[in-house]
Amino acid sequence: MTENSTAAPRRIVGLGGTFRQASSSERIVRAVLAECAAMGAETVMFDGPALAALPHFNPEQAERTAEELALVEAVRMADGIVIGSPGYHGGYSGLVKNAIDLLEDLRGDARVYFDGRPVGLVVTAAGWQACGTTLSALRDVVHAMRGWPTPVGVGVNSVEQRPFAPDGSLIDEAVARAVRAQAEQIMGFRVEARA
Ligand SMILES: Cc1cc2nc3c(=O)[nH]c(=O)nc-3n(C[C@H](O)[C@H](O)[C@H](O)COP(=O)(O)O)c2cc1C
Repeated sequence: MTENSTAAPRRIVGLGGTFRQASSSERIVRAVLAECAAMGAETVMFDGPALAALPHFNPEQAERTAEELALVEAVRMADGIVIGSPGYHGGYSGLVKNAIDLLEDLRGDARVYFDGRPVGLVVTAAGWQACGTTLSALRDVVHAMRGWPTPVGVGVNSVEQRPFAPDGSLIDEAVARAVRAQAEQIMGFRVEARA
């Protein structure tokens, strides 16, 4: 493995969360971004309301809104991505999938979709089963889009663990360790030099 040649800060893009004010999936994605920022990254977050501003993806619609262009461009320029979803009915949410489908706009890029980039995955759910199934489903999506899911996925049982203080800060040490480990894997990711 070789070092990336750029000395510029890594750009890490987070996307995910729900409409809920205290969205746990959004908070965990933000926690991963904060760890990446502490390691020198520039970060940007597309949270639940930002994803809700995206129209339903229509493959026959060529025009893009400013919100759509902003997300596509951010992912295009990203060195790493963090995707967070609640477990909804055993899978990831429609809000998150709609945003991912918009990334079809990256299909013509030299670096197509998530190609060559690490993708950290975060799921919160009311039960462990949905944590596992949703993480697994998201990994399949990242593989399909040529990304590299980090070995550490963060699954949080939002009923059993209650990892946040009333001010939203992360107080569960096990979750914090997983968040840190994922951030280290994103920031430590090196792309093989291509001939
Ligand atoms: C429509 C809907 C479906 C859900 N389905 C499941 C499920 O299948 N399994 C589960 O464990 N939790 C399920 N939950 C609970 C959420 O996954 C859980 O509350 C999650 O932490 C919410 O994320 P948020 O805090 O980011 O909004 C569901 C919640 C909603 C609203």
